[in-house]
Amino acid sequence: MKVLVCDQVAPVTIQMMEEAGIEVDNRPDITAEELVRDIAAYDGMVVRSRTKVPREVIDAADNLKIIVRGGVGLDNIDVAYAQSKGISVRNTPKASSNSVAELALGYMLALARRIPQACASMTAGEWKKKQLKGTEIAGKTLGLIGFGNIGSLLGRKAAALGMDVIFYDVITPEDPGPARQVSLEQVLQESDYLSLHVPKVPATTHMLNAEAFAQMKDGVFIINCARGGVVDEDALYDALLSGKVAGAALDVYEDEKVQPGNPRLFSLQDKDGFCRVIGSPHVGASTVEGQARVGLEVAEIMIDDYRENA
Ligand SMILES: NC(=O)c1ccc[n+]([C@@H]2O[C@H](COP(=O)([O-])OP(=O)(O)OC[C@H]3O[C@@H](n4cnc5c(N)ncnc54)[C@H](O)[C@@H]3O)[C@@H](O)[C@H]2O)c1
Repeated sequence: MKVLVCDQVAPVTIQMMEEAGIEVDNRPDITAEELVRDIAAYDGMVVRSRTKVPREVIDAADNLKIIVRGGVGLDNIDVAYAQSKGISVRNTPKASSNSVAELALGYMLALARRIPQACASMTAGEWKKKQLKGTEIAGKTLGLIGFGNIGSLLGRKAAALGMDVIFYDVITPEDPGPARQVSLEQVLQESDYLSLHVPKVPATTHMLNAEAFAQMKDGVFIINCARGGVVDEDALYDALLSGKVAGAALDVYEDEKVQPGNPRLFSLQDKDGFCRVIGSPHVGASTVEGQARVGLEVAEIMIDDYRENA
């Protein structure tokens, strides 16, 4: 079996596959053009989020039997088309769940105590103690939209810190733990913190739009560690300006291109000059532990496939 590794993976992933007898080409910087040109030589392919696998690549992949995506979202792969060609598409759904849940939890505390704003102010040589009065998360209601791997983990952690946890999901989980399932309207209307953990599909695109913001409590905090586009960023901008939303923490964006002034949400400041939006460049899954689990799982999936078809 010959496998092309297209993105950066943990060294252990390559080592494990090679030890199992798989021939591995590690090309973490491969371009889209090179991929179309070279993919016919491979039986398996490993990608993270950087490499896109559209129809054009699949059409050129004469021998490809399996694509393994290290991570959760499969939006960089034309899954239906790959499957229609008999190519199996796998991911590592649980490997990074705890990393993302911890980031969302960190963001709730950061929003409540305005830690990034305080840090920026200290770095500027200021001592704005009076302007930096925060709030507690204990006793507040956390509303989760999406109660799968990440949402349910976050729910348990938040409940342990004294939060009341409600969630909206299209499915009813067997064991919701300390969380309560409610309608979408209730989640929107009752939450002090609203955290998104749904995939980006047509039904969830712009799920938080102007109409949804209008139903929320004044002073709600929004956390999006799911996917850009689940929140309508223009509507969020307006909701921050009007004061409906007190603050937002974002790890993902509608447009993740690096360019000055993008996303414009980060330009919003309050009366004390503190930023209204805090965020990170899509690092939810990016922890030492999470990446090690992803690397291990990718190798295991590929090795299982190799042994099954040997
Ligand atoms: N920030 C990051 O780096 C990062 C890393 C991993 C995952 N993610 C994102 O987090 C999302 C959630 O991950 P997960 O592992 O918890 O996924 P999951 O599949 O375990 O959970 C998603 C939940 O959303 C629910 N859902 C789907 N459509 C819905 C709808 N229309 N309304 C309400 N609920 C709906 C599903 O029923 C499911 O319970 C992923 O889809 C991915 O986009 C982000």
